[in-house]
Amino acid sequence: MSEHTPLAQAHGQRATKAVIPAAGLATRFLPATKAVPKELLPVVDRPVLQYIVEEASRAGINDVLLITGRGKTSMVDHFDRQPYLEARLEAKGDMERLAAVRGTSELAEIYTCRQGEPLGLGHAVSYAESHVGDAPFVVLLGDEFTEESQPLLPQMIELQSRTGGIVLAFIEIPEDQVNRYGIASVSEAPEYADVENVVRVTGLVEKPSREEAPSNLAVVGRYVLPGTIFDAIRRTKPGSGGEIQLTDAMALLLAEGTPVHGIVYRGHRYDTGMPLGYLQAVVQLASERDDLGPAFTEWLKSFVAGLDRNAGKAA
Ligand code: G1P
Repeated sequence: MSEHTPLAQAHGQRATKAVIPAAGLATRFLPATKAVPKELLPVVDRPVLQYIVEEASRAGINDVLLITGRGKTSMVDHFDRQPYLEARLEAKGDMERLAAVRGTSELAEIYTCRQGEPLGLGHAVSYAESHVGDAPFVVLLGDEFTEESQPLLPQMIELQSRTGGIVLAFIEIPEDQVNRYGIASVSEAPEYADVENVVRVTGLVEKPSREEAPSNLAVVGRYVLPGTIFDAIRRTKPGSGGEIQLTDAMALLLAEGTPVHGIVYRGHRYDTGMPLGYLQAVVQLASERDDLGPAFTEWLKSFVAGLDRNAGKAA
């Protein structure tokens, strides 16, 4: 490849902007999400979206584009200043809550645009084109986040700046769940052997059946993409579920020679997109909190012991 191809020029450039698709209707959480965006459901005392923007901010990304839809403008308010509330907290001398309220407006510059019709993840990402241009960028799905003590984004961004291609994150999942995810076939990546848990992606398929799935490596909601993805999305026809899939656009770039790599994530991934995963996230994060954790886990243990006793009686 010549030094002057767009891909070669992209090498060395680091992603500095994030895109969060958040226009979905969240039918799995109705009626809670009739008037409240699912991204604002609280996990302990912070909305899901705040964990995601904090994750981006810790990775040095302070420019965040939210792709929103009707009824979801309150997401933006969460990251705005609240002078009246701040003045009240200050007057009361409640500096801890004041810092928490102000902190959300200091995490990142938040930009928004509207996806008029939810036609798929690829379609949502296509709205970011005028904001990110042809630079590499990060996509963070609005209902997943990673463990704070096991960051993933910094390695992904660094690797993408070296490959100039696509960098994904994977988790290993049970085989009966492959039809819920984008699934990859992979090989070793000796040229990036210095990166822990790295693989080279040789194929991608969105929500395959168990028989069609090439592995049990599932794409999780963190992507670092080159600007060429926008043209690929334009050339992508509706796929799984009749939607324009990001996975299909990435598979197109892969087939055309764009390097695609993945990092297998070994930390904990919180998936709040479904009620069970949401409840697990609330319990896990509450247990780890310095302020709430000790009292909460004590109660939780006796609650679980009670459940076990009742199950024993019923048996
Ligand atoms: C999306 C992607 C899928 C990915 C998943 C991760 O699916 O299309 O490839 O594996 O997110 O959560 P969705 O969950 O929006 O159906």
